[in-house]
Amino acid sequence: MESTSRAFKSNARRALADPTLQTALGMAKTGFPLKRLHAIERLPEFEALREEGKRIKNHTLAHLDFYLEEFERKVIEQCIDVALQAPNGGNLGRYHFVVVTDPAKRAGLAEVYRKAAAEFLLPRRETYGPRIFASSVYLAEHLHEVPVHIIPCIEGRAEQAGPLAQANKYGSILPATWSLMLALRARGLGSAWTTLHILYEKEVAALLGIPEDCTQAALLPVAYFTGTDFKPAKRVPGHERTYWDAWGQTNGGGGDCSGVSGDAGR
Ligand SMILES: Cc1cc2nc3c(=O)[nH]c(=O)nc-3n(C[C@H](O)[C@H](O)[C@H](O)COP(=O)(O)O)c2cc1C
Repeated sequence: MESTSRAFKSNARRALADPTLQTALGMAKTGFPLKRLHAIERLPEFEALREEGKRIKNHTLAHLDFYLEEFERKVIEQCIDVALQAPNGGNLGRYHFVVVTDPAKRAGLAEVYRKAAAEFLLPRRETYGPRIFASSVYLAEHLHEVPVHIIPCIEGRAEQAGPLAQANKYGSILPATWSLMLALRARGLGSAWTTLHILYEKEVAALLGIPEDCTQAALLPVAYFTGTDFKPAKRVPGHERTYWDAWGQTNGGGGDCSGVSGDAGR
C-alpha cells in the first residue's frame, strides 16, 4: 500500500478538473441551497445534529495532539500485527515489542546508544564505507529526536544457547522485525535497523523494565520520512554469493568472503 498523501495537492487539482464535477459545482449556487432547505425541513433534529457535529469538531481540534498520538499508536499496533505473520519457531509466540515514545526514556536510550557508538562505531570508520559511517554518526547524534523507538525482544538469552537454539531464537524475532520495517514503510514511516545499544543492553533493560531473561534483537528508530526518492540499496550481487552444490561454486566462479568492507564492498 503506497501512501498518496504527499501527492494530495496535485491529485486534488486533477480531480477538481473533472468536467462532470465542474458542471455539478456550477449548479451548486442555485440548486444546492434549495435542496438543502428541503432536506432540513424533513429532518427536525438538524440543528441538534449540527451542534453535536460542531462540538465534536471543536473537541477534536482542542485535543489534536492526543488524537494524533492515538492514531500513531494504532498504526504501530497494526504494523506489528502485520509483522507477526512472519514465521516464529514452533509458533510459540515468544516475541515482544517495546515501543518507546516517552521523551525522557527516548533521551535515556539515545544516551546509551551514543556511548555504544563512541566505543564501537568510531574506531571502525575504515570498516564501513564513508556513506554508512556518516549516516550512522548522524543517527547517533540525532537519536533523541526520533519520536518512536521499537525494540523487538525474544524470550530467553541467545548467548546462553547452542547454535541451533540461537538460530531458532533470532529466527523467531528477526523475520518479524524486518516485516515490521516493511509494514511501517508501506504506511509512510521510515525505520532503521540498529543494534549498537545492545553493547549496553542491561542499561536499556533497566530503563524500560525488560526482564533479564529476554534478548533484545534490535532497536528501530521510527519516524515519518520526507521525500520519496528511495532507490535500490547497493549490495554485493546475489549471483556472486549464490553457490551451486558446493561452497564457492557460483555460476561465474568466485565466492570469496575476504576483503569485503562497507557500502557492499564497492
Ligand atoms: C544487524 C544489523 C545491525 C545494524 N546496526 C546498526 C547500528 O547499530 N547503527 C547504525 O547506524 N546502523 C546499523 N546497521 C546498518 C543500517 O541499518 C543500514 O543497513 C545501513 O545504514 C545501510 O543502509 P542501507 O541498508 O540503506 O544500505 C545495522 C544493520 C544490520 C543488518
